[in-house]
Amino acid sequence: MSNKLKIGLIGLGTVGQGVVKVLDKYDDIEIICCAVNNLKKKRDVAIKNLTQDAMEIASNPEVDVVVEVAGGVKMLDVLMEAIKNKKHIVTANKELLARHGAALFDLARKNQVSILYEAAVAGGIPIIMPIKTTLSANEFTNVAGILNGTTNYILTKMEEENLSYLDCLEKAQKLGYAETDPTGDVEGYDAMYKIAILSNIVFGKRIDINRIYREGITKIDAIDIQIADELGYKIKLIASAKKINHENRDDVLDIRVHPTLVPKNKPIADIKNATNAVMLTGFPVDKVMFVGPGAGEFPTASSVVGDILTIKSEIHSSKNILPMTICHHDKYAYQVDIEKTINCYYLRIDADNEPGVIGKIGSACGEFGINLSYIIQRNKNSQDRATVIVITEECYEQDMNKMITKLEKDNKIKVVNKIRVM
Ligand SMILES: NC(=O)c1ccc[n+]([C@@H]2O[C@H](COP(=O)([O-])OP(=O)(O)OC[C@H]3O[C@@H](n4cnc5c(N)ncnc54)[C@H](OP(=O)(O)O)[C@@H]3O)[C@@H](O)[C@H]2O)c1
Repeated sequence: MSNKLKIGLIGLGTVGQGVVKVLDKYDDIEIICCAVNNLKKKRDVAIKNLTQDAMEIASNPEVDVVVEVAGGVKMLDVLMEAIKNKKHIVTANKELLARHGAALFDLARKNQVSILYEAAVAGGIPIIMPIKTTLSANEFTNVAGILNGTTNYILTKMEEENLSYLDCLEKAQKLGYAETDPTGDVEGYDAMYKIAILSNIVFGKRIDINRIYREGITKIDAIDIQIADELGYKIKLIASAKKINHENRDDVLDIRVHPTLVPKNKPIADIKNATNAVMLTGFPVDKVMFVGPGAGEFPTASSVVGDILTIKSEIHSSKNILPMTICHHDKYAYQVDIEKTINCYYLRIDADNEPGVIGKIGSACGEFGINLSYIIQRNKNSQDRATVIVITEECYEQDMNKMITKLEKDNKIKVVNKIRVM
């Protein structure tokens, strides 16, 4: 192996082009080949040896490190092939890692190569490597964050400009913050992949993404944001994972992604627009928070190139690159079902404007042992309907759902929105 690190790049879109631009100043790192979908597409950067066949990159004997910034689970076979061919991997592909990380990391361990993926969670924020290195003395109990810039941008605009969800989505699409098909972001899939990856390294267990509770922001209305604001909260899409005691076990993980009412005095309530934040709680460090750009050409390239440089600094000095980056987990976490978790809730209830509504809500809650910490009826609207806002004390999700079913048996009452409160 020469002293020049030879890169095989897969993907030359937003992140790939950023990587090429940032690597330009390094004489000792060379991109020797690159795979794309469309060979004829115009690009900001010139690259030699373009191919449409990503497998060519994975099997090229000259390549030391495969940098995969194409995205999607379709890259699984390609990266498996690269690992079998003893290539180190740098990837930004959260979906692939969240869905198939176990197979990839097992194969990488067998072949003594590293997979680095700083860009896969929170783009430009350094979070994976700090957890694995400088914070490794900690036993963590909680990780939570705003891990999706698109949804945070939409919620910020809804709050600041008092606009509807759809108006803000359109704004985000015009500015390039949201894709034409925004499902991955607005339905919480992107944040779910990221919290799965974070939970894996924070708690040292493999995570089944099918058991992560996921709810997006599409049901949030401008009125919810306005009422939350009046009550001292912001609404954020929070991805979180915490260790809980459940059924005589103390190692159960509660992992979820959903809109959350966050008290305004919590630092995460101040995270605006496309910015991301990750909070960790553990011993001995207590609480730490990382804030920064969660996406974009250069912030993401910062993390990808940082991983490439890490490999570059080790590759000639050691057979095993950064042993702490090799994944040694082989057990799956015990993940709790959302129905079995305890939360406080905000309810927005639509009802006929007639006497006794508040009484009916109070007695339904009482029947399921749910204490109320706040209840108010707002002014009736033009259709002579009443809006009742409730905030509950802690109760089981399953009791809350049973209570809602019971309440809605009265066809004059509808729980329009249920949002968990931090
Ligand atoms: N964008 C961000 O800010 C950001 C932040 C963090 C992580 N990521 C992750 O980084 C990855 C790339 O994101 P991106 O925004 O750069 O995507 P993008 O702009 O859509 O670029 C994807 C690139 O991959 C190429 N490609 C797609 N399928 C391919 C295949 N089968 N073989 C070879 N090349 C293929 C495309 O080729 P053509 O150009 O020819 O179509 C394109 O150059 C994704 O995993 C994403 O989740 C992105």
